[in-house]
Amino acid sequence: MTDILTAIKTRRATKRFDASYKLTDAVLKDILDTARYAPTAYNIQNYRFLVVRSEEQREKISAAAHNQPQIKESAALIVMCADLKAWDKDRARYWEGAPEQVRDLYVNKMIPGYYEGREQVQRDEGFRSCGLAAYALMMAAQAHGLDSCPMDGFDFDQVKKIINLPADHELVMFVAIGKRAVEPKPRLGMLPLEDVVRHETF
Ligand SMILES: Cc1cc2nc3c(=O)[nH]c(=O)nc-3n(C[C@H](O)[C@H](O)[C@H](O)COP(=O)(O)O)c2cc1C
Repeated sequence: MTDILTAIKTRRATKRFDASYKLTDAVLKDILDTARYAPTAYNIQNYRFLVVRSEEQREKISAAAHNQPQIKESAALIVMCADLKAWDKDRARYWEGAPEQVRDLYVNKMIPGYYEGREQVQRDEGFRSCGLAAYALMMAAQAHGLDSCPMDGFDFDQVKKIINLPADHELVMFVAIGKRAVEPKPRLGMLPLEDVVRHETF
């Protein structure tokens, strides 16, 4: 297991994976299981991980993703999707175990009060959740000595059809996971810390 600071700093977007590397079901399950500890607003856990491993699906997705090699060479391709209506689906389960009053407050007032009729909020929260979960996936892969590539270089409409995305879900991004086949080039163009940090106001 790699410590977290090292994991963050050594992760690279992997462009070529070793196609012969086989990921065990147990390791993949642990990576997915770890990622679901990523936080979500009101604990609605609105991320969905679609796991693509078959040659047939990869072939189709590859054609919709400019034939980027990661699609076919990675050991697993995780399609990150947001369930935009998770907030309205049996939401009592998200607060199971909470004291009755707290549960009632979240389930019957705060969650519907925040999401109901607010399509943009539902979408924004879905993307936030998937972004965080995608990074958790990448870190979990790293902890298992694996590499990853976050990806959005694909035709969203085509991929939605290929994966049969439900109408109330949104497609967010891919995370390809596997063993790197070549060492990455040195990091490029990293902005100095002062360019990305502001204090108190802009
Ligand atoms: C949302 C997102 C989408 C990306 N899409 C692609 C992609 O389609 N193909 C690809 O090769 N890299 C993709 N990348 C990887 C970036 O190019 C890479 O993270 C960036 O150049 C910095 O390199 P590093 O991650 O190795 O530090 C994507 C990264 C993010 C965060």
